[in-house]
Amino acid sequence: SADTALTDLLNSRIKDVPDYPKPGVMFKDIAPLLADAEAFGALTRALADRARELGATKVVGLEARGFVLAAPAAFAAGLGFVPIRKKGKLPGEVFEQSYDLEYGSATLEVQCDAFAPGERVLVVDDVLATGGTIAASLDLVQRTGAQLVGVVVLMELGFLDGRERLATHLGGAPLETL
Ligand code: PRP
Repeated sequence: SADTALTDLLNSRIKDVPDYPKPGVMFKDIAPLLADAEAFGALTRALADRARELGATKVVGLEARGFVLAAPAAFAAGLGFVPIRKKGKLPGEVFEQSYDLEYGSATLEVQCDAFAPGERVLVVDDVLATGGTIAASLDLVQRTGAQLVGVVVLMELGFLDGRERLATHLGGAPLETL
């Protein structure tokens, strides 16, 4: 689904930062992409196009960088936005899902009433690394009763095998990288 011109543009605006946040890690900084109107616009339109093509009724973003991509895409597609947040940030009844980090664990939450019956959800995030964040998020979406229609990420760190980890959480929905 990713066209070459778009991929080249996006790649050209992502900065590799060696040894951040710790030695041996190559950080992918999306700040230059977000700051570039052409690249940010092209990314937003591509996400919105996929939301429409997949028949989504809501776009879900994952805290925090996922919010920056998902919210404008939802607007551009004429859809609502739903946040999946780190524990303790959402009022009312929530579903929670923990997942393992390199050291320790983290917990994500979604509001139980985030979706109306029959809603179709596109999940958006910036990076698929180990897949823990998206796996937990897909489990949360499933518990709300909404239907997952796809996952789109800006980039995928293929060497971490996140895609393999997500296979059992996707329920047949596509996982796409721009
Ligand atoms: C980063 C990134 C993804 C996640 C990917 O988020 O934005 O959400 O890690 O990693 P995984 O596939 O190994 O789970 P981070 O937790 O750093 O949060 P932030 O967006 O709030 O900085």
